[in-house]
Amino acid sequence: MNPKMGNLIYAGKAKTVYETDDPEQVIVKFRDDITAGDGVKTESLVRKGYYNSVISAKFFEVLEDAGIKTQYLRLIKPGYMLCKKLNMIPLEVITRNIAAGSLLKKFPFTEKQELEPPIIQMDYKNDEYHDPMLNDSISIALGLATKEELDSIRSITLEINSVIKEFLLSKSILFPDFKIEYGFDTDENIVLGDEISPDTCRFWDAETSEVLDKDLFRKGEEGVMDAYMKVASLLLDEEDIAKWNVEF
Ligand code: TMP
Ligand code: ASP
Repeated sequence: MNPKMGNLIYAGKAKTVYETDDPEQVIVKFRDDITAGDGVKTESLVRKGYYNSVISAKFFEVLEDAGIKTQYLRLIKPGYMLCKKLNMIPLEVITRNIAAGSLLKKFPFTEKQELEPPIIQMDYKNDEYHDPMLNDSISIALGLATKEELDSIRSITLEINSVIKEFLLSKSILFPDFKIEYGFDTDENIVLGDEISPDTCRFWDAETSEVLDKDLFRKGEEGVMDAYMKVASLLLDEEDIAKWNVEF
């Protein structure tokens, strides 16, 4: 039985969250909007939300199978995900396995340098302040999380990185870096929320180094949707495609 979609709770730049008839569950609608530069550059890409939702659902299922708590309950249909309601923490938790993107602008790393152990960086999710990089003292002083919670976030994030990096490698995709967000569930557990998709990760084809993520949009290049569709087709197996009725 499908839950009823109720009032809008929150509208972000690429997703909208709705109430359901169960106070502990929400429906996350993945929209076609795509933005860069803190929302300055905005476009709508047909079926982006559709593909991002199935890609995220697949990653959440892989993580749940590995014993990691996520907000994911099920995909109602492509574009619409049933999730546990979380009280989100305004942290962008970024993990880097290969040097790329803003890391190269801020620090003297070499492009594509391997980062072992991975770098974990936390940014303050706040467009007005342009998502500044945090340290633990600032996060604690802002009341975003306690030291113990920050440590716990780092340790869960490293596990998530290992599970997804290995899964992607089995699909011949490299995982240079990604951003995730956490929230508290009603029992105050720290739970993975938001999405894991080409909007929020870097994915490179392991054979050709082809970019398969939002960097194409950030740089104004063609083929953004083709890349997202390729990621979905590489990640989903026949069972997923049948279960969610995914069309390519
Ligand atoms: P960066 O190299 O631009 O700092 O990005 C690091 C990772 O974080 C990359 O995988 C893309 C993701 N990301 C977001 O999800 N949202 C953002 O607003 C930014 C800037 C990056
Ligand atoms: N989150 C940023 C924005 O909307 C985009 C990015 O991923 O670079 O502007």
